[in-house]
Amino acid sequence: MSKLGIPGGTTINANLLAWIDEMARLCKPEAIHICDGSEAEYDALCELMVAGGTMTKLNPAKRPNSYYCRSDPRDVARVEDRTFICCHNKDDAGPTNNWVDPREMKTRMEALYDGCMTGRTMYVVPFSMGPLGSDIAHIGVEITDSPYVCTNMRIMTRMGQKVLDLIAKDGDFVRCVHSVGKPLAPGEKDVAWPCNPDNITISHFPETRTIWSFGSGYGGNALLGKKCFALRIASTMARDEGWLAEHMLIVGVENPAGEKTYVAAAFPSACGKTNFAMLQPPKGFDGWKIWTVGDDIAWIKPGADGRFYAINPEAGFFGVAPGTGADTNANAMAACASNSIFTNVALTDDGDVWWEGMTADKPAHLIDWKGRDWTPDSTEPAAHPNARFTAPVGQCPTVDPDWENPAGVPISAFIFGGRLSKTMPLVYQSFNWAHGVYLAATMGSEATAAAVGQAAIRRDPFAMLPFCGYNMADYFNHWLSMGRTVNNPPPIFRVNWFRKDSNGKFMWPGFGENMRVLTWIVDRVHGRAPGIESPFGMVPTYDDIPWDGLDYPKDKFQELMSIDREAGIAEARSQEELFDKFLDRLPKEFIYLRELLKSRLWRSPATWNLADEA
Ligand code: OXD
Ligand code: MN
Repeated sequence: MSKLGIPGGTTINANLLAWIDEMARLCKPEAIHICDGSEAEYDALCELMVAGGTMTKLNPAKRPNSYYCRSDPRDVARVEDRTFICCHNKDDAGPTNNWVDPREMKTRMEALYDGCMTGRTMYVVPFSMGPLGSDIAHIGVEITDSPYVCTNMRIMTRMGQKVLDLIAKDGDFVRCVHSVGKPLAPGEKDVAWPCNPDNITISHFPETRTIWSFGSGYGGNALLGKKCFALRIASTMARDEGWLAEHMLIVGVENPAGEKTYVAAAFPSACGKTNFAMLQPPKGFDGWKIWTVGDDIAWIKPGADGRFYAINPEAGFFGVAPGTGADTNANAMAACASNSIFTNVALTDDGDVWWEGMTADKPAHLIDWKGRDWTPDSTEPAAHPNARFTAPVGQCPTVDPDWENPAGVPISAFIFGGRLSKTMPLVYQSFNWAHGVYLAATMGSEATAAAVGQAAIRRDPFAMLPFCGYNMADYFNHWLSMGRTVNNPPPIFRVNWFRKDSNGKFMWPGFGENMRVLTWIVDRVHGRAPGIESPFGMVPTYDDIPWDGLDYPKDKFQELMSIDREAGIAEARSQEELFDKFLDRLPKEFIYLRELLKSRLWRSPATWNLADEA
């Protein structure tokens, strides 16, 4: 029995038992605990962390059954330049991934891991990504020395004994190894947030479907079910097995007649995906509802009826806290009202949490994410920009009744959005599947807080740049082929909520008002909106968008939808930089689609404007 003083889970899976044994011999922990996922276990883990100073229990009257953590300031985000895809052939990782030979990485990792859990408990965390037993779901087991990881994984995944029962004697699972990389010498006192910032290494071995992560206890670096498994490893599984593992939210759009249309949407990190996943229909949309299936990841398989079906492999939201408030996302606020974990936000004097954007009024006094006194006069934000809440999906008021349906939900459209202040109109639709794949591949964005160490503007194909576990050109080809596995591939749209006018002001209000764009998308899906052709794709006219409840002048909309010929051509030219990286693996379609785009632009007026068309 471990230090937790409770028995934990049991397994008869021979491969799992042998692997636990092998890892224990390498990591040399003081104790081993197999997580059963029970409430008693969760409570005991939290108590252990409260006693050790890692967690603070929040005021139960304000935030029942919830905890607050502050990380080491050197361990606050995913670390992309320390993330590696270790397949045998470097070209299979492609030009956008960091690559190390798998044998070399294994040797490096084994050296780092030798004795790395000394003085700590090794936890074995069995989890299912997706509803238990769904044929779109997959099982993983994470070995970790972080009780913070165990508690977060219990919210983020279906975790515990039920998963061990499912893999029974010989069921397969993805092996996920994690250590904070801070062994304890005999008698050494632990720190509140152990980590090893100088040696952070997040390595993936797609050919053996294993993950080894060392040195960080934060987010996607440590909760290995999320980015490491559900995107990087799963994308390679999906390539091999004919499905899609995507950085996408899933929502159901229900109109007043009760017609429900599910769409999946990809936005780069920190572009308001969680807000879109829980969108509150604005004034003028009585009877419309948005249903939340997922806010970050979608696993999508062709179904027997010739449609794509998607599940959210996660069971929790790991949402960016700053900028989330009752005004901007009341549903997310409700989701994290209890049974949640908060990391790197600020602590209020009455034992609750606060972050920038939660309320318009700033509290008079807080303890900031670095543990210092904070007042509205402080020069630094109270919460880290990448501070997070970990909250159960089931607590979201808009959670879709089918969010745990093992068969998934049918996807009728894909939406791709960047964060671009210039050139890109509010919305347009691709002419066909291949053109849609091209639009997704050429997505771009400006700035994100979720990762450290990147340039201000970057191409982020499919919002998968940091998450694709293999050569992105092969990934584009996989998407092109997947269009043929269903009867009528769903239409593909590009959106951009972030265009600015010549004074640098956002032209579109965003948030709930994005519903107006969504209704046009849904109308297009059902063949109810005509759409007109622009150089970029099919677009709505002013009259195709419902304006009830929003005073948005026609000429402003036309400006928002306008296409500057020179800027469009410059955009098409700059795509070459991305395409060149992939050499001969780039789909041939993309070469021609880019030429067609340039031709359409050359033949269009200096400023393409809806006013001249409709
Ligand atoms: C995330 C991300 O944390 O995309 O979801 O970075
Ligand atoms: Mn994400």
